[in-house]
Parts: sequence; structure tokens; C-alpha cells
Amino acid sequence: MKLRELEQEMLVCAKCPLAKGRINVVPGEGSPKADILLIGEGPGKNEDEQGRPFVGAAGKFLTELIESIEMTRDDVYIANVVKCRPPNNRDPLPDEVETCWPWLQQQIELIKPKVIVLMGRHSLARFIPSAKISQDHGRVLRKEFPPLGKVIFFPCYHPAAALYNGSLREILLKDFKKIPRIIELIESGKLEKISTENSVSENPLKETEKQGTLF
Ligand code: URA
Repeated sequence: MKLRELEQEMLVCAKCPLAKGRINVVPGEGSPKADILLIGEGPGKNEDEQGRPFVGAAGKFLTELIESIEMTRDDVYIANVVKCRPPNNRDPLPDEVETCWPWLQQQIELIKPKVIVLMGRHSLARFIPSAKISQDHGRVLRKEFPPLGKVIFFPCYHPAAALYNGSLREILLKDFKKIPRIIELIESGKLEKISTENSVSENPLKETEKQGTLF
């Protein structure tokens, strides 16, 4: 199965009630070989109309964040926890999230990203329920993700949360700046070394930050 085929399959999904209210399914977009997979919550009005993720105001800021690390939207992959717009932009219901989950799981398995950026508390909660966005944004968390093994997660605030909050905007820009270094560390095998087993509660980058060598 190829990523593009999976995206096509999603277009006809009718597994949950969100299918009835949608204009378009929003499977996600970007490079099938992306090192960075960014995961938001779910499509809003603009995304539903266009069938593309993060194309409204939050999307504009997300594009800015991606470009701030010298990358483009084509270099990464952008997806959501649910692929169809919940009515009136309400939060997706737990049932909807669970029904949609196998799509995201397959996306992750096919892309095999080096880092999964969890944008906002809903995305974070689905992957690492024990984490808190206010405490864990900008930290590296590692967690077993069968069948891929240990996967590196990087929680950050949702770009929409920063639209009317200048300090969150700065925090997001600062957190994103760490991503290229995280990838370098993974590629050179150093992230493995400085982190230890079962590390959801551990924080290898903090450790290295304390040593003042990395950032
Ligand atoms: N917010 C999200 O979480 N996802 C989108 O695609 C757009 C806005």
C-alpha cells in the first residue's frame, strides 16, 4: 500500500457520522518521505471546503513556522487526528477519534517520520494521554509505537492558539527552532544515547540544554 493510495481510500470513508456533514475529506498532504509529520486536530471550515489541511488562518501561521526552519510544506507531511470536519468546529468526539485512528496509524507506518509533531492538546492526548501541553511543549518524548518501535514525539501548542496570543506565537517559533537539531541528533544517533528506556516522562533535550551544548 502506498501513501497516495491510502489518501484515495480515505476520500470515500463513511465509517463515522462526520461523513454526513462534510464537504470534503481532508486526508493530509505532503511528502511520503517526510522526516517531520505534523498532526493537528481536525479540519475546519476552510479545510473542509478545499479538502486540504491547515489552509485557513492557523494554516498560514503553520506555513510560517515550517518556513522558519528553512523548510516548505512540501518537505513535511501535515495530517489531522480526524479527517472530516466536526460540525460547528466542535471538538471531535472520542468515538470519532477512535474510528478515524486506523487511517492516521497507517499514515505513520507508511511515512515512518523521524519526528511526529503533536500540535495542540487533542493531538497530544491521543498519543500520550499522560502529557500536558503547557508542561511538555518543546520537549522530546519517546514512546513505543508498534510496529515502528520507539518513536520520537514533539508536542507543541496548536498554531490556532497562537493567532491572538503573541506570547504563544513566540513560544511556538522557539519550539519549532529545535526541530532541525532534534533531527540531526536522531541522524547522528545521539538522541538514542542521551535518552533512556521508556522515556515518555523523560526529557533528553532538557538534559542537553542544561549542559548548554545543543541550543
Ligand atoms: N486546525 C486543525 O487542527 N487542523 C486543520 O487542518 C486546520 C485547523
